[in-house]
Amino acid sequence: MLGAVTVLAGFAATAHADVVGDAKAGQGKVAMCIGCHGIPDYRTAYPEVYHVPILGGQNAQYIQNALHGYKKGDRHFETMHAIATTLTEQDIADIAAYYASQTATSKNNPEK
Ligand code: HEC
Repeated sequence: MLGAVTVLAGFAATAHADVVGDAKAGQGKVAMCIGCHGIPDYRTAYPEVYHVPILGGQNAQYIQNALHGYKKGDRHFETMHAIATTLTEQDIADIAAYYASQTATSKNNPEK
C-alpha cells in the first residue's frame, strides 16, 4: 500500500520529462549499486562497512536529483560520477522508483 503510493509519487515526479519510473524494471538495474548501497533487507552490505547512504525508502525525486547531480558533475564523488554517466534517463527513473518503493519489510531483491 505504502509502496504503491511512493511509486505513484515517482511517476508524478518524472512526468515532466516523459520518462516514467518503473520500480519492477528498476529492480533488475540495481545489481551494481547493491554492493555499496545496502538496502535495509539486504544482509551482506552494512553501512558500517561501506560508508554510503542507504537508498531504500528514499524519496524518488531525491534519488533522481542526486544521480543527475553526479552525472552532470554538480555533485562530486568519483565513483558515483562514473556510475551515473552510464545510466540513461529511464534507468535513473526506474532505479529511483525501485528504491522509493523499498520498505523495511521488503523482500530480498531476487535480481541482486
Ligand atoms: C563503489 C561503491 C558505490 C556503488 C557501486 C554505487 N554507489 Fe552510490 N554512492 C556511493 C557513495 C560512497 C556515496 C556517497 C557519496 C557522497 O558523499 O557524495 C553514494 C551516493 C549515492 C547517492 C546519493 C545518496 C544521498 O543520500 O545523497 C545516490 C542516489 C546513489 N549513490 C545511487 C547509486 C546507484 C543508483 C547506484 C547503482 C547504479 C550506485 N549508487 C552505486 C558509493 C557507491
